[in-house]
Order: sequence, then C-alpha cells, then structure tokens
Amino acid sequence: MIIKTVELETVCGITSKLPENTKPEFAFAGKSNVGKSSLINALMNRKSFARTSSQPGKTQTINFYNINDALYYVDLPGYGYAKVSQEVKAKWGKMIENYLHKSPMLRCVFLLIDIRHEPSENDKTMYDWIVYNGYQPVIIATKLDKIKRSQVQKSVKILRQGLGLGSDVMVIPFSAETKQGREEIWEMISETVNS
Ligand code: GTP
Ligand code: MG
Repeated sequence: MIIKTVELETVCGITSKLPENTKPEFAFAGKSNVGKSSLINALMNRKSFARTSSQPGKTQTINFYNINDALYYVDLPGYGYAKVSQEVKAKWGKMIENYLHKSPMLRCVFLLIDIRHEPSENDKTMYDWIVYNGYQPVIIATKLDKIKRSQVQKSVKILRQGLGLGSDVMVIPFSAETKQGREEIWEMISETVNS
C-alpha cells in the first residue's frame, strides 16, 4: 500500500461521541502492550506517529487515523491492564464494546496476540465479542522477532488451539521490528477496501 497522507483525525474518550466516518475502518484490538500502536505505525510507514510505550496502558482513547483520505486505522485501548481500577477497566471495555457495536463503516477487526503467549481469557472474550458483533476476526501474532524461526509454526498452532480457531480464520505473524507480515496485512486491507 502506498501511504501518501496520515492524520490523527479523531480521538475519542469515554464520553465522546463516535465519529460518523464515511470511509472504511480497520480496527486493532488486543491486550495492553501487545503492539497495536506499533503495528499501526508500521502500516502507516511512520516510526512513531502513534504513541507507543514499553509500559502497558499507553493508548487510553480510541484513535482514528485517516490514511490517504481513503480509509481509517482505529487504534483501540488495550485490555487486561492490571494497574488501572476495575471501574476504569469496565469503562474501557464499554468503550470498545460500544465501538464494535455501533460502527457501520467498520470493515475488519484485527485481534493482536503476542506470539510468545497462549491466548488469555480476555483474548478469548475479545474474540467472541468480535464474532458476536458479526465480524470475521483476523489474528495478528505480534512480536515475531522475539522467537526463533523454528518455533513459529508451533506457536501459531498453540494460538489457534487456544482460541479454538477454524481453518477459515487467518493468522498473520508480524514483527514491528522487521516489518515481516506487513505486506500481507496491507494486501488484506486493500482487498477489503476494493471489494
Ligand atoms: P497499549 O497502548 O498500552 O494498549 O499498548 P499497544 O498494544 O499499543 O503496544 P505498543 O505498540 O505501545 O508496544 C508495546 C511495547 O512493545 C513497546 O515497547 C514496543 O516497542 C514493543 N513492541 C511492539 N511490537 C513489537 C514487535 O513486533 N517486536 C518487538 N521486539 N517489540 C515490539
Ligand atoms: Mg497503544
């Protein structure tokens, strides 16, 4: 995908109204620190346009990045962040749930899972939400550079089993360090935009 322009167009907090966008949206969900904002930077060809941090809980709003005036990448807050109160967790959960439920332009939800870890209960719940809301999730196995090449197949298998994925669900291993997997994700997005 050729990235000509990127703009952080809308930032939504808990009380904000969601934007009424008219271009297709692609959302990125997953546990705090899994690499959502890093993936979005890679897909924007920008080093640190979306703010990232080694501390979990960096993205606390829903951020809409306008790409080429043709589509949006939607950076969601991470779940499962231990250091915030139950109340805040519940609010973030509601915000994500509300977004999934009420976004007519949402075309695809990418669910990010760290390739090194078995999916958690929260990951399973998120997966079920995505399916329940009528989307076909695409799984991105992040931080691919952190494991040996010989371990990739096995890790993907564990991930598939953990989420109970059917063979129709795509799992794309990705590294924000090496950008491996980026073309495949771009291709998927382009196909969806053009279909
Ligand atoms: P929240 O906004 O807190 O939900 O986190 P996030 O999912 O947006 O994660 P973020 O992109 O901020 O990345 C978290 C940390 O993981 C940062 O220190 C990144 O540099 C690191 N990271 C992200 N992706 C990769 C990757 O593919 N490989 C490696 N080695 N590190 C990564
Ligand atoms: Mg983030």
